[in-house]
Amino acid sequence: MNSFYITTPIYYVNDKPHIGHAYTTIACDILARYHNLKNNNVYFLTGTDEHGQKVEKASIENSSDPQSFTDRMSGNFKELVSFLNCNINDFIRTTEIRHKKAAQALWKKLFDNNQIYLGNYKGWYSVRDEAFFSENELIKKDNKFYAPSGAEVEWLKEESYFFKLSEWQDKLLEYYITNPSAIAPITRYNEVLSFIKSGLKDLSISRTTFKWGVPVPNNDKHIMYVWIDALTNYLTALGYPNIENELFITHWPAVHIVGKDILRFHAIYWPAFLMGANLEPPKKIYAHGWWTNSGEKISKSLGNVIDPYQIVKTYGLDQIRYFLFSEVPFGNDGDFSHNSVIKRVNADLSNNFGNLVQRVCSFINKNCDSIVDNRINIENVEDKGLLDLSVVKFDKYKSYLDNQEIDKAIKEVVELITKANVYCDKLAPWLLKNKNEIIRMNEVLSMLIEIIRRASLMLFPVIPDSVKKIFFILNINENKINFDYFNQLPKLSVKINISSPIFPRIENKT
Ligand code: MSP
Repeated sequence: MNSFYITTPIYYVNDKPHIGHAYTTIACDILARYHNLKNNNVYFLTGTDEHGQKVEKASIENSSDPQSFTDRMSGNFKELVSFLNCNINDFIRTTEIRHKKAAQALWKKLFDNNQIYLGNYKGWYSVRDEAFFSENELIKKDNKFYAPSGAEVEWLKEESYFFKLSEWQDKLLEYYITNPSAIAPITRYNEVLSFIKSGLKDLSISRTTFKWGVPVPNNDKHIMYVWIDALTNYLTALGYPNIENELFITHWPAVHIVGKDILRFHAIYWPAFLMGANLEPPKKIYAHGWWTNSGEKISKSLGNVIDPYQIVKTYGLDQIRYFLFSEVPFGNDGDFSHNSVIKRVNADLSNNFGNLVQRVCSFINKNCDSIVDNRINIENVEDKGLLDLSVVKFDKYKSYLDNQEIDKAIKEVVELITKANVYCDKLAPWLLKNKNEIIRMNEVLSMLIEIIRRASLMLFPVIPDSVKKIFFILNINENKINFDYFNQLPKLSVKINISSPIFPRIENKT
């Protein structure tokens, strides 16, 4: 059995969840569900990143101590996961004891491997970005300096531990040149490669200026600086430092899905930490793009943050899951607007897929006493053509999803559904009924039911609740939602259940 370990970034708890968090979590859920349909041994991890100066500051602003603040805020993220119908295997919090132990063990291992030394750090630091910037990256305005993100930076000098990142430049380059699929999409791969080629400096990995973090082993004047703490979460969840346990042996290394803003940390620091600790680097890092709101960058100060609860309440969960992953290529930036949701959902789900299910099933309900006499006729060129197309589409769908190309996989299914609607228009079971060609009518209906079943199976990772409803209408047990059954034709005579529209059209009230 193949194993598949998939992770979201762990989310900062200094704010409430927004569409960006929902997006990454649903992406991982789609991929996890897809691998489950293939009977792979899936482990899906998400969680919260709870240490650092930002959280310490946010808790003070909320007149709370950091621990109760993070308990409360982390709960919001956990709630969002189940609200979005994401089937995780574990939810990790960096304030958990298991994580502190794992982070300290990794640190010790790196220290023992001569990868860490004590030095002094001087530089321009942005609290909001939790990163240092070199002088030429800064923007100067009114005698103040700002990071490229717009956050103000301050001059900092402090004793700090360093990770010898500079020694990893050649090894990382060699690793990525021999493993070009380890970073996707390809544009991101090229970006990382040219960053590595431009030269890597040693990395400051501890702080003495605030307390909210994991203490550095044998020197508790220092706490670990966020990235070494945060990235280790992916190991903690598999039981690190016990690398002999079953979960670790079967599941490491991981596929990490991250936003483009945190690619560098995952594609450069993280593999270097791992190799420095004699562990395998990630199997793959896939960087997705960012959503804007009606053309504008999303930010709290602009007041245009998209609340996942609100949009799901307005359009429905599967509709939003579908929209987010069909509207833009996974990896590109996307623009969210009410019009684009309505257009996409109505076109693909209501008018195409929903229409196919509804017209076929309600015809059978009304005209055939809900029974289809199953007679798939592969002697008929038209019928065979459609059935063969579903197999071709399934193969393409799988090869796309094996590479996390969710939008392309969806497109293949949509094309199959479109073809099934054309077939339905052309062969018109209602005319066959009128002409009393009952055998041919049953052949056509059987074919349509079969294509609906196959398309539903493929769309299950994206719109799981709706597919369960369709399987109920088709009277097929939910345990048949598995790719083992893709080619299996339905039983001889099928009595379907009464259907009602799965994707009602959304009226554009504005
Ligand atoms: N805590 C770090 C990650 C540590 S992983 C070891 C972090 N957290 S975050 O909460 O700020 O961001 C989490 C994810 O949300 C990132 O992958 C980021 O790209 C994503 N998004 C934040 N805003 C977004 C959009 N507007 N659109 C899409 N994703 C966005 O970074």
